Amino acid sequence: MERNRWYKDKVFYQIWPRSFKDGNNDGMGDLYGVYEKLDYIKSLGCDGIWFSPLYPSPGVDCGYDISNYLDIAEEFGGMEAFKKVLQGAHERGMKVIMDLVVNHTSTEHEWFKKSRQRIEPYTDYYIWRPGKGNKLPNNWDSLFEGKAWKYDEVRKEYYMHLFAIEQADLNMDNPLVREEVKKILKFWLDMGVDGFREDVITFISKKEGLPNDYIMPASKGFFYFNHGPHLHEYLKEFQEDVFSKYDCMTLAEAPMVTPKVALKYIDENKSPVLDMMIQFKTQEADCLFTDFFHVKFNLRKLKRAYSSWQTKLDGKGWNMLYIENHDHPRMVSRYGSEKYRVESAKMLAVSYLFLKGTPFIYQGQEIGMTNWYPEDPSMYEDVQTRWQYNNVATKKSPEKRLQRLWHGSRDSSRTPVQWDNTKHAGFSEHEPWFYVNENYKEINVKDQENDKESVLNFYRKAIKVRKELSVVKDGNYKEYNKSSSKVYTYSREDSKQKLLVICSYYDKATKLNIPKGFDLKTGKLVLSNYDNSSLVLKPYETRVYVWEK
Ligand code: GLC
Ligand code: CA
Repeated sequence: MERNRWYKDKVFYQIWPRSFKDGNNDGMGDLYGVYEKLDYIKSLGCDGIWFSPLYPSPGVDCGYDISNYLDIAEEFGGMEAFKKVLQGAHERGMKVIMDLVVNHTSTEHEWFKKSRQRIEPYTDYYIWRPGKGNKLPNNWDSLFEGKAWKYDEVRKEYYMHLFAIEQADLNMDNPLVREEVKKILKFWLDMGVDGFREDVITFISKKEGLPNDYIMPASKGFFYFNHGPHLHEYLKEFQEDVFSKYDCMTLAEAPMVTPKVALKYIDENKSPVLDMMIQFKTQEADCLFTDFFHVKFNLRKLKRAYSSWQTKLDGKGWNMLYIENHDHPRMVSRYGSEKYRVESAKMLAVSYLFLKGTPFIYQGQEIGMTNWYPEDPSMYEDVQTRWQYNNVATKKSPEKRLQRLWHGSRDSSRTPVQWDNTKHAGFSEHEPWFYVNENYKEINVKDQENDKESVLNFYRKAIKVRKELSVVKDGNYKEYNKSSSKVYTYSREDSKQKLLVICSYYDKATKLNIPKGFDLKTGKLVLSNYDNSSLVLKPYETRVYVWEK
C-alpha cells in the first residue's frame, strides 16, 4: 500500500490512562473519561492520540506488563468503551496509536503459564536457561530491579527479565513468537487503530549465546540486548508482513539511539522498517543516563542534542519531538523553573514545537504541571523508583535518598491530571488510585481555560501558529549562538518564509544576541511570553519571529 506519511502533519497527545480522567468515579482513570475529554484534546490542536497500555494487566509496571494483548482492561471500560473512543477520535479527525509491548509479557500471561510447564508450543516462547550450578545464566542486569534472571520453581530454570521480575522477556528468535506479534498487530489495525508506539523494541533481539558482559559497570548486558543482531530483520518482517499493508505509522522507543543508528531503521530512501524513533538524548541535559543520577542542567548539552537530531536526520528520516512522557519527571521542574512556572512552561513549549518533526504532548504538560514532592518514600508507587530507594545510594542520608526520588522518579508525571480546583482536582469523585499533586488549586485546566494568558491557551496558540506556518514542516534548521549556556536560538527557512525562535533558559535578564541577517524590526512577532521587544530577554523569555519572502 502507498503510504502517505500522514503523521508528518500531526500533533499527538499522549494519554497515560490511569491518571488522565476517571469517568465512572471509581478512582481509576478510564476510557469513559477519555471519551468525555476528546473535544478538549481536539481543542488543543492535537489530532492524534497515543495510548499507553490499555490491555489487561496485573499492573506491576502500570500496564506495561500485559496479560492479554487482544483485549482492553475492564478497569478502563473494556473493549466497548475503547471502540467508542476510537470512533469518537476518528470522527474528530484524530488518529489513534496503541502501545505495543512485545519485548516482554506479564508472567500472568497464558503463554508464560504454559511455557513454565513446558506445554507446547509455548515451551520456547521465553528466554529460559538452566543456570550454571547455583549461578545465574549470565551477569546481565535488569533495568528495574536486580539481576536479569529469576528462578522459576515450576520449570526449574531461570527466565530472563530485563525489567520487573513479573515482566518476562519473550524469545523473539522463535518464529512462533513473531507470528503472535503479527497477529496482535493485525488485530488492532483491522479494528481501525492507526499505528503503534513500540515499547523498548530495540531490545527484542539478544546477542547469541547471551554472553557475560564486562563492558558496562552499570546495567551489564546493555550492548548485548540493545540493537541486537536480528533487530533489523525482525522489524523488516513486521513491516513487510503487516505494516506495509496498512496506512499506519510506527514509532519505536530506542534507548541510547544515535541519529546514525536510527537511520538504519528510518531512512526513507532505504526501505525503512520504522517511521520514527524516540531518542533519549534530549532527556539527558540534567542527568547521566538515568533521571536518578541528577546533575546541574546544561543547556549546551540540550542544544547539541536537538541540533544533532535536526541536522543528521534532515532529508532522510523524520523526528519524533517530545519534552515529557510517563517515564520522566516534569520539564518545568527540570529544564524550566517552578518559580517562573508559567513563563518557563511556555518557553519549553516553543523550544520544541517549532522543530522539524512530529510533536507529542504528554497529559498535563499543556497546563505546566510540576514535579511531585511526597514526604514519605513509601508513597511512591513505581516499581523502578522503589527499587532505587531500597537498593541504590543506601548509604546516603534519608533526606538525600528522598531527594534522589524527587529528581528522578517518573511518578512525578503520573499524578492525576488536574482538571479543576475541587476535591481530587476534578479527576474523580472517588479517592484516586494515586496521590494528586497538592498544587492543583493553583494549577488546573478549568482556571486556565478562563485565563487568556495561561499556559494552556499558549499551547493552543503555539500549535495553531505551528500549523499555519508551512516553514515549520519542511524548512531548514539552523542553530545560532551555540556556545551560549543561557539562550537557545534557531531558525527555520524555506523558499517562502523565515522563522526565528528564541528561548531563554535563564532565570535572570540576559542579552538578546540577534543572529546576523535577521532584522527584528521587519519580522512579525507571532508568539511570545512577555510584552517585551527590547534587546534584553526577561527570565525564560521566548519569542518567535516570521518573515515572509
Ligand atoms: C518503556 C516504557 C516504560 C516501561 C518499560 C518496560 O520504557 O515506556 O514505562 O516501564 O518500557 O515496559
Ligand atoms: Ca474509572
